[in-house]
Order: sequence, then C-alpha cells, then structure tokens
Amino acid sequence: MDKNYYNAYEVRYKKVYEAGIERWGHSPNDPELVNILTKWVEENQLRGKSIIEFACGEGASGLILSHLGCTYHGIDISQSALNKSREILKNYPNATVSLIDMVNKKIEGSFDAALDVMGFHMLVVDSDREKYLKNAYSCLKGGSPMLFFRESYRIDAYEGEIESFEKWKEISGEDYDRLHKRIAKGVDQDVEVYIPLVPSRAKTKNGYQKELSKAGFIIDHIKEMDVNINCPNSVTFFVHRPKENK
Ligand SMILES: C[S@@+](CC[C@H](N)C(=O)[O-])C[C@H]1O[C@@H](n2cnc3c(N)ncnc32)[C@H](O)[C@@H]1O
Repeated sequence: MDKNYYNAYEVRYKKVYEAGIERWGHSPNDPELVNILTKWVEENQLRGKSIIEFACGEGASGLILSHLGCTYHGIDISQSALNKSREILKNYPNATVSLIDMVNKKIEGSFDAALDVMGFHMLVVDSDREKYLKNAYSCLKGGSPMLFFRESYRIDAYEGEIESFEKWKEISGEDYDRLHKRIAKGVDQDVEVYIPLVPSRAKTKNGYQKELSKAGFIIDHIKEMDVNINCPNSVTFFVHRPKENK
C-alpha cells in the first residue's frame, strides 16, 4: 500500500480539526458502542485486563474501556487522531496510545483481548488484510476474545481478489486524493469541510468469515447492525483465538 493512502487519514483528521470540528469518528457516547463494549467486557471478565485496540482513531473506545476499568493500549497511523486520543485519555494512567502501522509493524506484547472499530474494513488489499489479521492474532493470549465492531457489509460485495489499490480503484471508482465536501457539526454551528474520503472495503458475511477463520480465529457470534451514521450497513464479529493444544 503506498504512502499517500496512509497519509490521507492524517490529511483528513487535520482538515476536520482545523475546521473547528471536535471529532470525526465514533463518539464515546455512542449508545450501541457503549452497550456492546460493556457487555463484552462483562462476559469476558476483562476488567483489570489488557486490551489492545487497532485503528483506535480519536480514542472513543479507549475512554469507554478505561471507564470500565480495563488497561488500554490504542494504536493508529494518524498522529493528529492520536493527539486527540491522548487528550481524552489523560485522566486514565492505564491508557496509552502509539503511532503504529497495524499492517506492517509487528505488535509487541501479549494481550487479554483486542478490539477493532471500523479499522479492518479500511484495508482494501488482500495481502494487507491478511497481514493485519495475522498481527492481531499473534499478539493475543490463547483463549482471548477479539471484537470487530461495525465493519462495512454488503450482501453483494465484491469477493474476488484485490492485489493492489489500483485494482480496487478500478472496481469501485473510489480514491483518496480528491477532496470532497462534507458538512459536520462545529462548536456552535454546522461547518463545511473538504476532505479526502478514504475508501473502505465492504464484504459479505461469508467473506469476513473466510478471512477470520483463515487467520485462525474461532467465530462465536455475528451481529448485523442497525443502520447508523458511522457505517450505515455493517456487521459486528465476536471471535476468539483458540487456546493452544497441550
Ligand atoms: C474509520 S476510522 C475508525 C477510527 C475509530 N476506530 C473510530 O471508530 O472512531 C479508521 C482508522 O483506521 C486508521 N488506520 C488505517 N489504516 C491503518 C493502519 N495501517 N494502521 C493503523 N491504523 C490505521 C486510520 O488512521 C483511522 O483512524
């Protein structure tokens, strides 16, 4: 994946903040995110345990998980989004974030759980998706859960091979270099902002299942999500890394 693709996120977050918009991604008050994370933490007894979040963005889930008593580590490739995360997590000494490419950098450490909120679907190239899942799987202890929340979903999603971003551009007509007008909530009023729209790759449920199983995850539950503003048509996967055979 080329450098411009990754840089597009940084450009997007910067433009959004310069326009006076508080945040671009999930709000820490998103009712569904709060409900599902709270239940997931309870059911897997994750209070006091270490959770890594991939593509953490502006730290919404970090705040929710810290509030629930988890030790949190978020990673993302956008420095501006991470600055926002640090700011909202500043009262939680057990919450840290760092600038890491989740596809190309091996994650050090061994975690009790992992979270991905609309991160996986941002990777469009097959080999990047595979590398990322391998990375996520390897940094989890045996038996640990991972949650993929609101990943883009379409029943007629393209399921053929995508070996390069150029191929995805050909198929979808999407790119990340043009600036598109969007209206978002500023401090006192709606504001206009011109940003790159970084393409995401929708998959069918079966497509996701195949990728997750190939990476070694056991799929526990799949939930089709209600239409929502962050990702209108999406699916949530509850999976876990199996315990090692003795
Ligand atoms: C759709 S946003 C979701 C952000 C956040 N999870 C939320 O829900 O608000 C996708 C995020 O993925 C991050 N991202 C994309 N590719 C990445 C990579 N290779 N490594 C780490 N983060 C990445 C972007 O910087 C961006 O913050």
